Amino acid sequence: MHVLFVCLGNICRSPTAEGVLRHKLAEQGLSDQVLVDSAGTGDWHVGKAPDPRTREAAAQRGYDLSSLRGRQVTAGDFARFDLILAMDAHNLAHLQGLRPSQPRAELDLFLRRYDSSLDEVPDPYYGGAQGFEQVLDLIEDACDGLIREIRGRL
Ligand code: 4NP
Repeated sequence: MHVLFVCLGNICRSPTAEGVLRHKLAEQGLSDQVLVDSAGTGDWHVGKAPDPRTREAAAQRGYDLSSLRGRQVTAGDFARFDLILAMDAHNLAHLQGLRPSQPRAELDLFLRRYDSSLDEVPDPYYGGAQGFEQVLDLIEDACDGLIREIRGRL
């Protein structure tokens, strides 16, 4: 199963989701069965590592994001992935505009799909440290729901 997380810049929210899901899959012995990636709707941070604040907050909880690099989402991703999960409604609208007529991928809003307390992961880029902790809290929770879905589909 191939899962792609998408946000705006691919340096805060979606790489966090990629790192958290990879970590949880490894803990549960599922790494070999799931391909995980992330991308941004924008192209400003292509080739860049995640934001230092994102890396630091993730590292404090045991997630190593240092090897991840930004890339921009493409229409071709709809043929390569089974599930594309958007972090907010803007990302979702952008992806709906890119989606080809016969996609392999199912497209959804990440938190809404897994009944989180919020529907969207708030963009932490222009805020303070608490925003990065909230991103991690929301993503850790939703990844548990995603892993339940993955187990059901494998
Ligand atoms: P992300 O956060 O979409 O969670 O990666 C952002 C990163 C960069 C920018 C905006 C949001 N930016 O405007 O450069």
